[in-house]
Amino acid sequence: MTTLPQRFAGKHALVTGAGSGIGRAIAVRLAAEGAGVAILELRAEAGADTLAEIRAAGGTARVIAADVGNTDSMRAAFASLERLDVLVNNAGVAHIGNVVTTAPEDLDRIYGVNVKGVYHGLHFGVPKLLASGGGAIVNIASTLSKIAVPDRFAYGMSKGAVFAMTLSVARDFVDKKIRCNCVCPARVHTPFVDGYLAKNYPGQEKEMFAKLSAAQPIGRMGEPREIAALVAFLASDEAGFITGSAYDIDGGTILLR
Ligand SMILES: NC(=O)c1ccc[n+]([C@@H]2O[C@H](COP(=O)([O-])OP(=O)(O)OC[C@H]3O[C@@H](n4cnc5c(N)ncnc54)[C@H](O)[C@@H]3O)[C@@H](O)[C@H]2O)c1
Repeated sequence: MTTLPQRFAGKHALVTGAGSGIGRAIAVRLAAEGAGVAILELRAEAGADTLAEIRAAGGTARVIAADVGNTDSMRAAFASLERLDVLVNNAGVAHIGNVVTTAPEDLDRIYGVNVKGVYHGLHFGVPKLLASGGGAIVNIASTLSKIAVPDRFAYGMSKGAVFAMTLSVARDFVDKKIRCNCVCPARVHTPFVDGYLAKNYPGQEKEMFAKLSAAQPIGRMGEPREIAALVAFLASDEAGFITGSAYDIDGGTILLR
């Protein structure tokens, strides 16, 4: 990691849900490129693991224990930041079900984290970016922001909303030096996927893992570090002409099906 360019030297980043999977890889990558990283995480102990990994590599970070779905928690989290240049809204939760089998409380839970959580990040984060003279936002959306997959009613709804919020913020702050983009990963191998398999296919995890991998045209799942590399590019000045975009990072899932 020592050979990476220092594109974020002197910059301050915040990554939500940075205690696991994609968020953790993003926090580690931004720190390796010189950013001071705020690891915003519901599970403080998971955030501490990411912090330890960053510090072991010589990076700078701290943990903010917060719930993205809670307005007071997010207000306090952002108020504690001295400065913000890069905001990554990554925290998200999954749900399986069609419109009939999705209970109202399931919808509320997915909305609360995946939609309202991203809203909170944007609502409290944009003023901080403006105070820094501008900055970059990357939201973690999904292929499901664009295509339908069976039994993803609530989750797809939430990721469609992440895409729409990305466009709205990109439009409203295009002349204020804020760029806002989202990335749309297909399946990526994280604890999110392992938890899904353990819950829904107990005893069949291995064969379901192989089946899910084969379902993507490239024949495998993505790796968190691959998503982190794209996010780091989009957050960097090298992507200065890119705003209001939804980048597919999906092994061909959207266009090669
Ligand atoms: N893994 C995939 O296949 C995949 C594909 C496309 C998009 N995504 C999206 O990427 C993002 C990260 O997914 P992942 O696979 O790394 O998941 P993960 O479950 O491994 O990690 C998510 C992290 O978010 C944290 N979190 C959950 N709710 C929170 C809350 N209310 N407040 C603060 N933190 C909270 C969790 O504690 C966890 O550390 C999610 O938005 C997910 O929808 C994942």
